[in-house]
Amino acid sequence: MTIWVPSLECFSGPRYRAIAQSIGAAISAGELAPGERLPPQRRLADALGVTVGTVTRGYAEAEHHGWVTARVGSGTFVKQPAERTVFDMAWRQNDDSDVIDLSLSLPPPHPLRLQAFSDALKAMSESPSAVTRGVSYLDARGAEGHRERLAGWLAQLGMSLNADELLITQGGQHGISLVLSTLLRPGELIATDALTYPGAISAAQQAHLKMVGIAFDEEGMCMEALEAQCARQPPRLIYVTPDQNNPTGACLSEARREQLVALARRYDSWLLEDGVQYLPAEQRGTPLYQLAPERTLFVFSTAKVLAGGLRIGVLRTPNVLLERLAAGLRAQSWMVPPLMVDIACYWIAQPEAASLLAWQTEELAARQQIVTEMLSGYTLGRSHNGSNVWLTLPEGSRAIELCKRLQLQGVKVSSAEPFCVGSTPAPQAIRICIGAATDRQALTQAVSVIKQCLAQPPLATITV
Ligand SMILES: Cc1ncc(COP(=O)(O)O)c(C=O)c1O
Repeated sequence: MTIWVPSLECFSGPRYRAIAQSIGAAISAGELAPGERLPPQRRLADALGVTVGTVTRGYAEAEHHGWVTARVGSGTFVKQPAERTVFDMAWRQNDDSDVIDLSLSLPPPHPLRLQAFSDALKAMSESPSAVTRGVSYLDARGAEGHRERLAGWLAQLGMSLNADELLITQGGQHGISLVLSTLLRPGELIATDALTYPGAISAAQQAHLKMVGIAFDEEGMCMEALEAQCARQPPRLIYVTPDQNNPTGACLSEARREQLVALARRYDSWLLEDGVQYLPAEQRGTPLYQLAPERTLFVFSTAKVLAGGLRIGVLRTPNVLLERLAAGLRAQSWMVPPLMVDIACYWIAQPEAASLLAWQTEELAARQQIVTEMLSGYTLGRSHNGSNVWLTLPEGSRAIELCKRLQLQGVKVSSAEPFCVGSTPAPQAIRICIGAATDRQALTQAVSVIKQCLAQPPLATITV
């Protein structure tokens, strides 16, 4: 009897995980039907040329994802739709849409994300301390216990921050906006990469600040250009995303981090370091808050590692600014709802949080590889585990036209326009948010549409 044997080539990472992913993909594709029995482990191990232990681990991982169920003595079976939890199905809810939307920077979807949030909600409703905190007014900086738990989690992620220097914010965007509106006066100047996170541009506009875009290359912001700006008019604050600029993916080199700090000290500028676009510790450079703790504010958020809807961020500040920022936060919203912080703190304390992040890190690496291979020959800005890819279009192509064509073919991406600071001309490039695709299959489909559209000759547009 022939057995189902997956092809593991398109799944990177350890073999056991590739087996699990191939099971998930085969179920989505209808290749494995509900109720179907997976091949006996030894036979599959022989067919794949791996050990039985690897297949056992792969099946266990597939069970962990909620795709299959093991029955003692009879084998492992694809779950019937009725047996799946509501979250195994809900995470695919957008699959019915005709559009593959890769225009928003999101962590890759997974049923465990919904399950973790649901578990935390349930646990909170039964926790007397969380419920009591949830109905109380607390310190504007956030409860001490919350700050300590978040600092402990950040330490596990390789960010060494002291709970005493933290404020809890309503996400990264709020952290940026709080800093700009509290520390700077209308008309003061911020320097940032000429292409930067649009939320920072709008926060600066809201606070009536001036923003100047500094030239950059693949190593991040150019220090000669920043120095020239400082000599002309020193910025009050320099906003940077040193690890994985959004949108270009550039990471600031170590040498430039040192130069940036030296310039900020020479011209007495604050540094606002944005770490929201998460990369694993081994791929991050030395944090600016470590190089220049006396002048660096650091923004982090749970958005790209847990879920955007939680709206929980962490702002690290030099001690001298703590009271001013707490007063600013109090003036804006008094405090962040403690219930949401409790939910985040419960979530990060569960072992599933670490396995979800490990899955996400590998998943993004696999997605990066798919895009790199499919778009080989094109100029790509990317990080190994990054959630975005920045594609510079070949000579003669126009990003606006490509985006329109893609939209007609059911694929949404962003052009450079929203990321341009001031009147910086938009380069002919697009940002592809690879994390936003439901799965690798959807990503592959979208990238093949992008490739086809790139190969089409430009449309002649004539106007009089
Ligand atoms: C660089 C950067 N900073 C900040 C944010 C905002 O994060 P949050 O969703 O936590 O407000 C984003 C969101 O995409 C981002 O890309």
